[in-house]
Amino acid sequence: MALSPQWLDELRARISLSSLIGRTVRLQKAGHEHKACCPFHDEKSPSFTVSDQKGFYHCFGCGAHGDAIRWMTDQRGLPFIDAVKELASEAGLEMPAPDPQAMQAAERRAGLHDVTQAAQEWFAAQLQSDAGSAAREYLAGRGFDAHTAARFGFGYAPADRQALQQALGQFDEKELIEAGLRVAVEGKPPYDRFRDRLMLPIQDQRGRVIGFGGRILQSGSDAPKYLNSPDTPLFDKGRSLYNLHRAGPASRQTGRMIVVEGYMDVVALAAAGIEDAVAPMGTAVTEQQIELLWRQVPRPILCFDGDAAGQRAAMRAATRALPMLRPSHSLSIVTLPAGKDPDDLLKEKGRAALEDLLAAPASLLDMLWQHERDAQPLHSPEDKAGLKARLLAHVEAIGDTDIAALYRRELLERFSAFAFPPRERRPWVKNSSAAPFQRGVFRKAPDPVLSPEASQRLRRMSEGGSRDGLAAAVIAGLMRHPAEVMRHADALSRYAASDARIAPVVDSLLDAAEALEPGRTSPISDGESQAAPPEDTRFSFLVEGTEPQVAREDLAEAVSLLVERPALEAALAAATARFETDPEGAFAEQQRLLKRKLAFEKRLGQMASNRAARVAQDNSEPVPAQGDALTGQVTD
Ligand code: UTP
Ligand code: MN
Repeated sequence: MALSPQWLDELRARISLSSLIGRTVRLQKAGHEHKACCPFHDEKSPSFTVSDQKGFYHCFGCGAHGDAIRWMTDQRGLPFIDAVKELASEAGLEMPAPDPQAMQAAERRAGLHDVTQAAQEWFAAQLQSDAGSAAREYLAGRGFDAHTAARFGFGYAPADRQALQQALGQFDEKELIEAGLRVAVEGKPPYDRFRDRLMLPIQDQRGRVIGFGGRILQSGSDAPKYLNSPDTPLFDKGRSLYNLHRAGPASRQTGRMIVVEGYMDVVALAAAGIEDAVAPMGTAVTEQQIELLWRQVPRPILCFDGDAAGQRAAMRAATRALPMLRPSHSLSIVTLPAGKDPDDLLKEKGRAALEDLLAAPASLLDMLWQHERDAQPLHSPEDKAGLKARLLAHVEAIGDTDIAALYRRELLERFSAFAFPPRERRPWVKNSSAAPFQRGVFRKAPDPVLSPEASQRLRRMSEGGSRDGLAAAVIAGLMRHPAEVMRHADALSRYAASDARIAPVVDSLLDAAEALEPGRTSPISDGESQAAPPEDTRFSFLVEGTEPQVAREDLAEAVSLLVERPALEAALAAATARFETDPEGAFAEQQRLLKRKLAFEKRLGQMASNRAARVAQDNSEPVPAQGDALTGQVTD
């Protein structure tokens, strides 16, 4: 069924968000909007707002955010398509016509769902029967109580080649085979796939059983530890994640999503009270699984086993994510102590120890860096060149140009610091022939100045609308703090490449900064007034008397916001374009990006106003005597 963006817009336009939400939440009118205590988290004073005008709700407390459809999926727990159907019927909008082929396939899958569901009920009953006693003992031996066993739907497949077929006589052999429960080999009668195994149902996002994992009960047997359902019309290993239907809602509470390697790690985590964990199906993490994870949280945490295989798997997932990286989407990584899996760590050290590790994961960039740094010794120039080449190969793999540029810069910085650690500065030798001295006379370079064309453009930018305001502020900030320019050269060049009007200003700024003598802090001037900041901006780095450290940090953040904006907008446009082919995915993506954009604008607003407020307050107080020297030094 093709839900076009136009159709979805029409749907949104016909629904009054406040009356939809008002059915379950007591809303209070506040100006153009409504306010309430947030239904997604526990709070005493209202930080949840609903805007009919924008068609969005937003919670400033927990970040819950979305439109009418999102409300139905997140608050009412409906699957996307059901949410759309319900809203459409309410709005009197007819659903676009489904195509007959898709309907046939859906019917066939519905039939198979009945098969897997019946099998699940039968396995669960077997676990409680006499035949299941060894499996029950096994579970008890691992410390899983009856509650956990029931919650995860554990079952038992008896040691019999025909038992399942006899128990599920209402289904055809063909269906049992298609559902992956029976195995058909040429020339032999079909037989039950799972025998004498502890059974774990694998469920889709809506909680429907789509396949099984079966674990042997004895260690030391020749049989593989786990046997999984084959791929079937219901079960696609690369597109499923074990426990996602429980971890998804839990993750909306925690804002976190953990990826572990094993089914049993997921179960052990849940038994210890950590509900926001999923596992792939014993295969390497796929692109589709990464996309699934990104629909839950922007930065899922990989928490793989602390052995060589686990670390290889984490690295493989990381490299698979590189081409897919988009603004504010990444992975982070927790490395477990050598030889331990999450289950072991919980048993030995308890939940708090694991939570500590989860609270401070490494970034994707950290992981790449550490992996490559430690991969080979670094004795010769060839070794160093090798490390550099490996790092740059990762950068090459990144699809998003802004992210690639930021990775390149950061990785090369780390590379230089590591491969060429700073030596102690040699004390100045008077007779040296170093550049600024010629025939013993120190020639002072002229003050760096922007080209007249650049100055003119800059003035126009700061007069223009808010679009150019940030760029103008950043450039003016860099002119005031010229020692910062080269740090941001890469990001600035990227940004300039995306906007022809700004390119000459950036070029001129970089030229001026390059001409700057090391250690000089006098501002770059625009030729007329001294580096005049745009009148209406209140960023700390444009305010007289801001501490240098604060100005530097704010400037760095403003640069990254500036660079992120075009990427964010491009990603939004791309998500919108994907609506035809993947409405559900594009929708989720669009929601996330809109939320990101809101956070972006908010941060920008804060940066401008907080500092201004602080400086204003500082100025209204009597200036302490020693403060003068500092202020004087900073401003000129
Ligand atoms: P593990 O061996 O770490 O499994 O394999 P586990 O879930 O932690 O199990 P316990 O704690 O030893 O009981 C990780 C995952 O790899 C897949 C399964 O999905 C398993 O959860 N696997 C492993 C297989 O598919 N087949 C196997 O033979 C082994
Ligand atoms: Mn394991």
